[in-house]
Amino acid sequence: MVGFTFAQAVILVLTTSVLAVSMANKDWQFGPNNNWPYKGGPHRPKYSYHQPKYTHESPRKIAVGGSENWHFNFTYSDWAVKSGPFYINDTLVFKYAPPGPPPSPSHSVYLLPDLRSFLKCDFSKATMVANVTQGGGEGFEFVLEDWKPHYFACGEHNGIHCSQGQMKFIVVPLLRCTNWVGVIETNFSNLLQSLAQDPYSDMILVDGITLLCNDLQVDPQDIVMLVVSWHMKAATMCEFSKQEFLGGLQALGIDSLDKFRERIAFMRSELKDDQKFREIYNFAFGWAKEKGQKSLALDTAIGMWQLLFAEKQWPLVDHWCQFLQARHNKAISRDTWSQLLEFARTVDPTLSNYDAEGAWPYLIDEFVEYLIENGIIQSDQSDDLSQKL
Ligand SMILES: *[C@@H]1O[C@H](CO)[C@@H](O)[C@H](O)[C@H]1NC(C)=O
Ligand SMILES: *[C@@H]1O[C@H](CO)[C@@H](O)[C@H](O)[C@H]1NC(C)=O
Ligand SMILES: *[C@@H]1O[C@H](CO)[C@@H](O)[C@H](O)[C@H]1NC(C)=O
Ligand SMILES: *[C@@H]1O[C@H](CO)[C@@H](O)[C@H](O)[C@H]1NC(C)=O
Repeated sequence: MVGFTFAQAVILVLTTSVLAVSMANKDWQFGPNNNWPYKGGPHRPKYSYHQPKYTHESPRKIAVGGSENWHFNFTYSDWAVKSGPFYINDTLVFKYAPPGPPPSPSHSVYLLPDLRSFLKCDFSKATMVANVTQGGGEGFEFVLEDWKPHYFACGEHNGIHCSQGQMKFIVVPLLRCTNWVGVIETNFSNLLQSLAQDPYSDMILVDGITLLCNDLQVDPQDIVMLVVSWHMKAATMCEFSKQEFLGGLQALGIDSLDKFRERIAFMRSELKDDQKFREIYNFAFGWAKEKGQKSLALDTAIGMWQLLFAEKQWPLVDHWCQFLQARHNKAISRDTWSQLLEFARTVDPTLSNYDAEGAWPYLIDEFVEYLIENGIIQSDQSDDLSQKL
């Protein structure tokens, strides 16, 4: 059978849009020709970026079927998937010869109203957009102006070109996300200029972050900067790449410094949400550790714990840090890092529900011993505990 089943078409529409979305996201991968204003080597004027240009952003003109043009027996649905994504204001060009003497076939372009009529090649409610002669010469141009699925088909020969000649395809044009980059970059250009101290670097480093914190009226040591970094998916503490910075702002829907400032209070409140706190906590490990290292330096870990557990008000945090300095004095593994949150979350600070037979890492069992030895835990349970240990 030539043509589609309903399921195939639904899959086509879905994969087309998923593909398109993932392709659209590619616009966020700032490649070597990116528009980061501070790149370009010493011969480029320092701040020549006031008009960011996104050449790939201007609408495309696309010949339907490529060099095959618009004819019988070519799989236009495959072509459409391969040629996507299509964006709003892109132009489709249908080229086909005007009808000659019979039996030379004639073609046209119709829009079908919905998926069902598309699958059945039912033209009863279709709209002709180009007649049999309009595909001659430079071809017929159709601008994708609307953000909706377009069901194109040839309406000639009682729909046989559609049902048997595969002269049909679906296009779901997308909005170009890069407009957003333009808006954000324009809005933040002065900020970005001042943040990246080295004019040729892609990175906002410590000095830039201090300036940013000034603008946001936040202390750079404030835990909310960790939440900002989490939203920006920043790879490393004390630095943002341009991609992280602009990508994060886009994801947060922030297009001005005022909005950024307003959002800080909300980000602070996100720490109160247990699920988000856990994500931020686990994010903090990779963010705070040195590049290329597997574990987190003890001093850094202790600093991060003080910061994070001040938020959770875990009363044993100081003892934990003292214990590590006295007994461990080594870098912290990711496993210890994440298990400690579980311990703080689930084990009562008096250790009344601590299970020595539980699957806690050795270091945490040792910590419990330390608490008891030093008389820090003085509840009745501690007797039972020391017997268990
Ligand atoms: C359609 O194209 C295929 C190969 O592309 C060919 O084998 C087949 O004969 C063609 N059918 C018609 C009806 O032209
Ligand atoms: C498409 O083009 C029209 C006319 O040039 C313009 O008004 C509109 O904003 C454009 N749409 C998008 C999403 O770029
Ligand atoms: C097709 O449309 C064009 C432009 O609207 C018109 O000039 C031409 O006569 C039409 N041809 C047919 C066969 O209807
Ligand atoms: C940022 O861009 C938006 C357009 O999306 C505009 O409304 C807003 O005023 C701009 N803010 C600043 C500070 O330039």
